[in-house]
Amino acid sequence: MEPVRLQRFMARAGVKSRRASEELIEQGRVSVNGEVVTKLGTKVDPAADVVEVDGQRIRMFEGEAYLVLHKPAGYITAMHDDHGKRCVSELVPAEDYPGLYPVGRLDSNTTGVLLFTTNGPLGDQLLHPSHHVLKQYLATVKGTPTRHQLHQLRTGVTIRAQGKVATTSPAEVELLEVGERALLRIGIREGRYHQVKLMCETVGHEVLKLHREAFGPVRVDDLPEGAWRLCTEQEVSALKRAAEE
Ligand code: URA
Repeated sequence: MEPVRLQRFMARAGVKSRRASEELIEQGRVSVNGEVVTKLGTKVDPAADVVEVDGQRIRMFEGEAYLVLHKPAGYITAMHDDHGKRCVSELVPAEDYPGLYPVGRLDSNTTGVLLFTTNGPLGDQLLHPSHHVLKQYLATVKGTPTRHQLHQLRTGVTIRAQGKVATTSPAEVELLEVGERALLRIGIREGRYHQVKLMCETVGHEVLKLHREAFGPVRVDDLPEGAWRLCTEQEVSALKRAAEE
């Protein structure tokens, strides 16, 4: 294996970002083969060198990567944009995980769980409607939907997405707050373009704010907006199970 810079090795070992890793190196908390290293850019051989942070051995991650970003509003779901729009790729360690890409898409003004992986086949399987991965959204809508409108959302509404007319599959819908702005929790297993917004608009309620709480087993909970973390082993196993079902 090629030698890699220490901060890259650390980022790929799950020590958050390269910036955080650089700080740890400068603080003298990192050793290579027992020697404290404070020089940024020191190269290590991932196969042979023993790297420790605060005395704990860390290992460079070599398999597929799975991480979750708490997407803030104002970023498009893309790794690159020719028109200079801000992309989610700026918020994740794309250079440390070659081949990393977002699983599905959130609109620019949607916040919440955005999963990334280097495992292309798994990403494709998770997006396939036949795998029924539940995506849960919190939607702030204009006005309070009636019982009839909630029933329509639950049973399926006819929307026009990307020029195609489609009837949505049954959705899980809870009315959490009522008022001029009502709050709905909506769980869907499909992923049509602008699906939640179109569903709500079709029954007469514009979506003012949209946040994805969960993608299958993966949630953002306490992760601050704009931050990412590696998925836990339990999350990865649950995602794999969901993709195989
Ligand atoms: N549905 C939408 O309308 N927008 C999103 O970003 C995700 C689901």
